Amino acid sequence: MRLVLVGPPGAGKGTQAEFIAAQLAVPKISTGEIFRENVANGSPLGVRARQYMDSGHLVPDEITINMVRDRLTEPDTADGFLLDGFPRTVPQAVALDKLVADLGSDLGAGLDVVLELVVDDDEVIRRLSGRRTCHGCGKIWHVDFDPPLRDGVCDRCGGELFQREDDLAETVAERLRVYARDTAPLVDYYGAQGKLVGIDATGPVEDITVRAIDALRSYGG
Ligand code: AP5
Ligand code: MG
Repeated sequence: MRLVLVGPPGAGKGTQAEFIAAQLAVPKISTGEIFRENVANGSPLGVRARQYMDSGHLVPDEITINMVRDRLTEPDTADGFLLDGFPRTVPQAVALDKLVADLGSDLGAGLDVVLELVVDDDEVIRRLSGRRTCHGCGKIWHVDFDPPLRDGVCDRCGGELFQREDDLAETVAERLRVYARDTAPLVDYYGAQGKLVGIDATGPVEDITVRAIDALRSYGG
């Protein structure tokens, strides 16, 4: 199955991507994570991406599309993939349709389904202000919902927790503006293709995973 997750920052795309990809046995491809890894390594891609990410803006389409094109030609995507955070603009969606068509695999010519995680702005702000990531194992935690997080320490591996630069309040507001302007139009784009399935992405994480898998199943996945 070729699946795309769409939703505002903080909708839980990264959280759900891990569980959904495991259930579907496909690789999870998160453009935000790939950019963050490049920033951490200080690669030329990371240096270019960082100036956009830290201010809550999108990395230019050309850079992002080339990066995804490279990733989708790796052999582990032959039986499908889950994209988290891509596409994020209509030109990216158009490019993805073309990329998938050009892959020419047994899976057919297009994406199978686009799952929209629906969450309102107040919930997004609440989630992102409390999000912490572990330097050690990379697990995402929430200071309010994932106790016990003692002294900024990861409960899984004991690593140090940090807050993402782009989770500062002003940057979150900018990310929400960018989402409404550039990414929300994808709902209509995929709706018109008959590929969009929306689910309520509030409530316990496990319940949302069940909702997502049910929605994909009833869609035919
Ligand atoms: P990216 O990392 O993709 O950021 P984002 O879409 O803004 O999404 P987040 O990762 O902040 O949120 P999420 O939906 O994954 O939620 P999460 O599971 O973490 O991108 C970062 C940047 O990279 C972009 O701003 C841009 O600059 C660049 N970029 C990436 N892709 C790009 C592209 N295609 N084009 C151009 N630029 C691109 O959950 C959030 C929090 O909520 C966590 O604390 C979590 O624990 C908590 N939580 C999750 N589920 C629940 C729940 N059910 N109840 C309560 N809390 C929950
Ligand atoms: Mg994410």
